[in-house]
Amino acid sequence: MNFHIMTLFPEMVLNGLSTSIIGRAEEKGLITVNAVNIRDYTNERHGKVDDYPYGGGAGMLMQAQPVYDCYKALPPVKEGKKVRTIYVTPQGKTFNQKMAHEFALEEDLVILCGHYEGIDERVLDEIVTDRVSIGDYVLTGGELAAMIIVDAVSRLVKGVLHNDDSSSDESFENGLLEYPQYSRPYEWHGRKVPDILLSGDHSKVDEWRRHMSLLRTKEIRPDLLKKADLSKKDIDFLNDWSSKR
Ligand code: 6GU
Repeated sequence: MNFHIMTLFPEMVLNGLSTSIIGRAEEKGLITVNAVNIRDYTNERHGKVDDYPYGGGAGMLMQAQPVYDCYKALPPVKEGKKVRTIYVTPQGKTFNQKMAHEFALEEDLVILCGHYEGIDERVLDEIVTDRVSIGDYVLTGGELAAMIIVDAVSRLVKGVLHNDDSSSDESFENGLLEYPQYSRPYEWHGRKVPDILLSGDHSKVDEWRRHMSLLRTKEIRPDLLKKADLSKKDIDFLNDWSSKR
């Protein structure tokens, strides 16, 4: 899968994605991260890419011309492909695991990072297919958001994670938060690993993990619990547990 990041700070994006699992995925050729500098495409002398907003107001806007020419120079766009183009902005749909799975189906994904107070709406209308926010807070620019999307999507690409089903148990994949996990030593700072995990009884372990997931989700993210696909056993467990407290 190929990511094409349009940004004023390509080195920030490349540095942030060059380590650990994502860096290795690139080395293995499973993904490519192409960060292009929008400034390289401006027609203005001195490399200017911003100007004042019509109607007044604080700050500067990125102009349409450099963004559009940068987009038109991307390899899949040049080849005439209809390529999914995400504009990362707080005025977007909140990114989630379902969207990550959807984006992971694409061969090419373009991510446009805004700066200053935003981008001239006309170029967004022409090239953007999806407007995506990473949450209800404001960042100084779209680069961190783009990196988050690349990370979350890349780990869903086949071969990027060693264990191909190590994502299925994880938080959000089944609509619940993940259960707590423990490694050696058995006792640390006077705290012991729950004995059930040493019992060797896999069905008991699975049941305990399901229960922990349910309780955690109820406590920390009751909004997720309302949407989760719960069995009668799950519901009975939660009701039982509530009545005992
Ligand atoms: Cl995608 N960009 C900016 N600048 N701020 C954000 C965001 C994106 N998502 C949440 N806050």
